[in-house]
Amino acid sequence: MGDGPVVVRPMGAADAGAVAALSGQLGYPATAPQIAGRLEAARRDPGGGLYVAEAEGRVLGWIHVVAFHDLESDPYAEIAGLVVDAGARRRGVGLALLEAAEGWARERGYREIRVRSNTARAEARPFYLKRGFTIVKTQYVFQKPLAS
Ligand SMILES: CC(C)(COP(=O)(O)OP(=O)(O)OC[C@H]1O[C@@H](n2cnc3c(N)ncnc32)[C@H](O)[C@@H]1OP(=O)(O)O)[C@@H](O)C(=O)NCCC(=O)NCCS
Repeated sequence: MGDGPVVVRPMGAADAGAVAALSGQLGYPATAPQIAGRLEAARRDPGGGLYVAEAEGRVLGWIHVVAFHDLESDPYAEIAGLVVDAGARRRGVGLALLEAAEGWARERGYREIRVRSNTARAEARPFYLKRGFTIVKTQYVFQKPLAS
């Protein structure tokens, strides 16, 4: 199952289980209830788009695109997350999801799309380069827990 034509559609609450399983493949394990909660919050945010790719009713991948309005640059869209099932790669699923994200951004007037990708993600580099992205910098990511 899942070998048929690929369709990209908005992510819905019923996708939480499949999206959670794929998040594990992305290196961010999560339970279906955790994803359902995050999804509900993200769907309320008009500054973001969430899509899944499916074939024959099986979810093969997902993408999350968000908008940024900061003082340093004109507004832009950024891919916050993208993953395709390891068993469904190299058949255009990632590209279909990327096109949906770019379409989301274009329709809202954003003139640039960015993605920050861990240098350890070997497949991501040729994928984005092939699709017209260029590497503009490498950076450290700092994080800190905030006490309540
Ligand atoms: C990166 C990823 C989303 C690509 O998804 P995909 O469905 O396999 O990509 P596509 O089939 O649409 O590939 C489109 C093109 O990208 C390039 N590409 C994709 N994967 C590649 C790989 N492993 N090696 C070399 N080129 C690759 C190819 O040019 C490919 O076209 P081709 O197959 O006709 O040669 C997928 O490998 C993935 O989920 N990786 C793990 C998570 C990840 O890295 N996410 C990105 C986070 S920023």
